[in-house]
Amino acid sequence: MKVKTAILGVTGAVGQEFLKLLVERDFPLESLKVLASARSAGKTVEFKGQTLTIEEATPEAFDGVELVLSSAGGSVSKKLVPEAVKRGAVVVDNTSAFRMDEGVPLIVPEVNRHVLKEHRGIIANPNCSTIIMVLPLKPLHDRWGVRRVICSTYQAVSGAGWTGIRELEQQVADLAAGREPKIEVFPQQIAYNAIPRIPQSGGVFDDGYLHEEVKMIKETVKIFGDESIHVTATCVRIPVIRCHSETLNVELVKPFTLDEVREALAGAEGVTVQDDVANNVYPVPLACSFLDDVFVGRLRVDNTLPQAVNMWICGDQIKKGAALNAIQIAEDLIRQDLVRVPA
Ligand SMILES: NC(=O)c1ccc[n+]([C@@H]2O[C@H](COP(=O)([O-])OP(=O)(O)OC[C@H]3O[C@@H](n4cnc5c(N)ncnc54)[C@H](OP(=O)(O)O)[C@@H]3O)[C@@H](O)[C@H]2O)c1
Repeated sequence: MKVKTAILGVTGAVGQEFLKLLVERDFPLESLKVLASARSAGKTVEFKGQTLTIEEATPEAFDGVELVLSSAGGSVSKKLVPEAVKRGAVVVDNTSAFRMDEGVPLIVPEVNRHVLKEHRGIIANPNCSTIIMVLPLKPLHDRWGVRRVICSTYQAVSGAGWTGIRELEQQVADLAAGREPKIEVFPQQIAYNAIPRIPQSGGVFDDGYLHEEVKMIKETVKIFGDESIHVTATCVRIPVIRCHSETLNVELVKPFTLDEVREALAGAEGVTVQDDVANNVYPVPLACSFLDDVFVGRLRVDNTLPQAVNMWICGDQIKKGAALNAIQIAEDLIRQDLVRVPA
């Protein structure tokens, strides 16, 4: 089956990754429409030797489209995704607009592709830090049960899109040239720094938690369909261009050995173990950038709690944390003949 597809937000960091992945995975396209804001309308993008002209994303732009890969921000999704669905398109949405809505499956294919068939036109891609975390949690939860996770993130600037990348690169250049760095996107200088606030503006709850942290907590429960999994998180931006890292302390319900955990992780779909610290073998964001899997290392039993295991993980958040996960969902939709909006 070939699909009439549109990318909403094609000029963005995630949108550009969609274009690359459609080629890389030989996605079965009948046609491809590329959409962005009025600012980009008329500009062009190259795709498989063709020049495609970007159109302004309006409701009518979705006429005749069967599948939308959407990543233009939450407010754009809230406005345009229902319009696309009204016109018969199935939308895989990368924003937080619909993730917690009833009737909207929140999918990481390796974890819960079985709920895809419940979609009513919209499928949500989880938050990037959540996707990266749940991949190694899946084999542990299946075998031992995950009771509690304590997570700290080390998130790349590209999580804030192109403007985040540009700000880090400009600040590094300014500092090298002895100029005062400009601070526009992040609340403090991000070059040579670490900022415990994501998103960079707004997004603080009364109890002090950040929206990013609460997404990780709530989305994990929805993805596993299990309210007994308790997550707490602290989200931090670091001056890395691409690829998020996280430390996880995972308390399990049943007893385990470290060798068993290592073996379960090594056998899990989408997970690669790199764990030999004595020989400097562990994942680092630079080496894991542009790769598909989530990489796991520094495996240790918690010295304060033998029921818990510590690990360090890295995953490319533009790829597996966004575009790749969405395209895997689209591939599953095609395989299961689900590229249609149920009546
Ligand atoms: N970056 C990540 O690591 C990541 C990971 C997971 C999820 N996401 C989510 O994916 C979405 C996009 O993120 P990004 O990093 O790709 O952002 P980005 O680089 O800032 O790109 C934003 C995209 O949205 C488009 N856009 C903005 N306003 C629009 C409008 N009114 N109508 C139509 N298109 C509009 C932009 O088009 P113009 O160029 O024309 O302005 C651009 O294509 C966000 O919701 C983000 O939370 C991002």
